[in-house]
Amino acid sequence: MNWDDETAPAAEERIVGAAAEGDDQAVEAALRPKDLAEFVGQEKVRQQLDLVLKAARQRGATADHVLLSGAPGLGKTTLSMIIAAEMNAPIRITSGPAIQHAGDLAAILSSLQEGEILFLDEIHRMSRPAEEMLYMAMEDFRVDVIVGKGPGATAIPLELPPFTLVGATTRAGLLPPPLRDRFGFTAHMEFYDPAELQRVIHRSAGLLDVEIDPDGAAEIAGRSRGTPRIANRLLRRVRDYAQVRADGRITREIAAAALRVYEVDSRGLDRLDRAVLEALLKLFGGGPVGLSTLAVAVGEERETVEEVAEPFLVREGLLARTPRGRVATPAAWAHLGLVPPQAAPPGGAARPGATGQQGLFGT
Ligand SMILES: Nc1ncnc2c1ncn2[C@@H]1O[C@H](COP(=O)(O)OP(=O)(O)OP(=O)(O)O)[C@@H](O)[C@H]1O
Ligand SMILES: [Mg+2]
Repeated sequence: MNWDDETAPAAEERIVGAAAEGDDQAVEAALRPKDLAEFVGQEKVRQQLDLVLKAARQRGATADHVLLSGAPGLGKTTLSMIIAAEMNAPIRITSGPAIQHAGDLAAILSSLQEGEILFLDEIHRMSRPAEEMLYMAMEDFRVDVIVGKGPGATAIPLELPPFTLVGATTRAGLLPPPLRDRFGFTAHMEFYDPAELQRVIHRSAGLLDVEIDPDGAAEIAGRSRGTPRIANRLLRRVRDYAQVRADGRITREIAAAALRVYEVDSRGLDRLDRAVLEALLKLFGGGPVGLSTLAVAVGEERETVEEVAEPFLVREGLLARTPRGRVATPAAWAHLGLVPPQAAPPGGAARPGATGQQGLFGT
């Protein structure tokens, strides 16, 4: 399940969306690296985690609590399972939204075995009373179970076996400091660079029994928005195309042609991203233009433009949010093959640039 959907505006499923969708979950289970050595990229996190786990193993102790923070699809759930595998420990999986009451958490905690890994996904969405119970459990391996109600209620202390909490969050900033401070180790997951994604794609192609050229993998990697989940999804769509339209082998040409069909361009922008960028450039001369105006121009809700399209455009340095409105960067003009207006007349709207030669989804 994708918890972020609850706050995200309703948007159709996107092939370049970072959240797990459709058949992702079933396929992902098969593509997950099983140990740290197989886990691609994230060198710093991997080294640090390797030390934390090795040291704990040498001491014969349970590992410190670990917080994994990072954008969707970067490998938090994968790492939590790897931690369990590396510690040779069972893993219990739950999530913040699934824990409504402190009692739900007490039930889980009290049934843990010694050394077990408790994976708490979307930990920032846990209820406040459960959070407070978790503080004590993490620090003292103890919980107070409240029995009864009102003035007659009593707290019965309950000892817990030592366990390792692995929390995952896409919004580390939303975690209350007392909770953040109780983790012995925090791993910040970064977006992957194209070379790393290429390795992810090669590895997945091997597991899916798909033949792929290095150039084909590079082509897919460049369009995957720094995110292994998207890389794996694009690989599956390209595989379909290669099977139906060619001999099954993925080359650069096949990858580019397939992703043109799915409207994923050379930098990983999809139809919505390009519509926003095109409106900004062609209708408003590159801005500044207000969000509402831009949204009307592309026929989308404000929220959709702001929360679905813009974050990636900003991250890619194609669009800037300024106090006066949205502004296109020179890279945006270059990417759409348009020529920026020479100089905006003072106070007036800039002239839209001339259309360049480059095709819409050119490679
Ligand atoms: N470093 C990696 N090497 C190889 N594959 C990876 C790596 N990281 C992630 N993947 C692949 O990407 C997919 C998504 O990863 P995962 O489910 O762990 O992301 P997540 O961070 O938990 O996302 P979410 O925030 O949506 O829960 C998995 O199927 C996994 O195969
Ligand atoms: Mg996850």
